[in-house]
Amino acid sequence: MSTVLKCKSGLRPNPQRPIISIGTINVDQLMGPVTHWPDPGTETVYPDYEMRVGGGLGNFGAALKALGAHQHMVVNVGDDAMGDWLQGQFGALADHWHRSQTVTSVTIGMTHADKERTFLSNEGHSSVFDADMVRAMLRGIKLDGAIALVVGSFLMPRLLPDCADILAELRQAGAIVALDTAWPTGGWSNAVQAHLESWLGHVDVLLINDAEAAGILGISVAEFDDDVDGALAKIADKLHDDAIIVIKRGASGATAFSHGAITHVPVPEHVDVVDTVGAGDCFNAGFLMALQQNADLENALRAGIDVAGKAIASQPRRYPELSDLRTDVAATLAGGKNTPVQMHTQTFDQVENS
Ligand SMILES: Nc1ncnc2c1ncn2[C@@H]1O[C@H](COP(=O)(O)OP(=O)(O)OP(=O)(O)O)[C@@H](O)[C@H]1O
Ligand SMILES: [Mg+2]
Repeated sequence: MSTVLKCKSGLRPNPQRPIISIGTINVDQLMGPVTHWPDPGTETVYPDYEMRVGGGLGNFGAALKALGAHQHMVVNVGDDAMGDWLQGQFGALADHWHRSQTVTSVTIGMTHADKERTFLSNEGHSSVFDADMVRAMLRGIKLDGAIALVVGSFLMPRLLPDCADILAELRQAGAIVALDTAWPTGGWSNAVQAHLESWLGHVDVLLINDAEAAGILGISVAEFDDDVDGALAKIADKLHDDAIIVIKRGASGATAFSHGAITHVPVPEHVDVVDTVGAGDCFNAGFLMALQQNADLENALRAGIDVAGKAIASQPRRYPELSDLRTDVAATLAGGKNTPVQMHTQTFDQVENS
């Protein structure tokens, strides 16, 4: 059974509003294949190298850009050549990005022959991203009916204490609030659970993978897999009645929970996976763009799965355009048949000052 998104306030996504993302972007430098850890003081030359946009918001924004989505990215970069490079990848979409007086966050990814990866990252600009920057970059943006995704909140230590306020302000302004917790670097500590408790009541669409779902509930992935329906019902208890939970399940596809009903969509055809980095972010892009076009849940899951599948089968990474997708998915994302809902519009400024 599929259900059309309808959030607490009765608002539906307005296709004329942007998909807003709040999160981290960084430069990914991937090199390998690394077969053994080099000895200190030596140099090793590897045949494979790729430099690309990374970070939860970076992957999401790049996937939406390729799809031609209407989006607004709320993010900072460092004040250096890497910051210039990141902004250059997004053209006019990056004009308003905050430049922080520090170095850009860079991740060195060592690839291994078995497709595993080892990542080394500096703190960089993401560690100074804060709520004032978020509010400044939302000023003047119409939020009524916009979809706003917060991704990777635990990677932004200065935003963390104000994250509940930001989610509440977005929702109060009429946005449909989506959250991808990603994996908290230190695991599911009491502090992490306390943050989640303060956020989940403001969330309309929770986008997590099976390991994260198990982490939230304090159970193993095997226990989650044994009783997916029961586990989803327990997570749903933490959210409001009209919220949607989406569990990304790798090669098994994705499962959504809405109003007590489960919708599962498997991966429709085998994917030759070459690089799974950012699979979840690409899924989020397809899924949320489909919701923006007022697709039902089943078609939105299909869109997430197709966008992610196409991206992770490419090397070097190439994000799919509409013409690369299955015909039904491209039609969903093009949303030609939708009549935008006329709604009273309110800017973030107006809400902040009300
Ligand atoms: N091996 C695979 N084969 C086919 N599709 C896959 C595979 N791995 C991931 N996908 C697709 O990508 C989606 C998201 O992947 P996954 O469930 O791994 O999310 P995630 O763990 O959040 O990803 P990430 O590693 O980016 O955080 C899946 O729902 C599925 O559609
Ligand atoms: Mg993820």
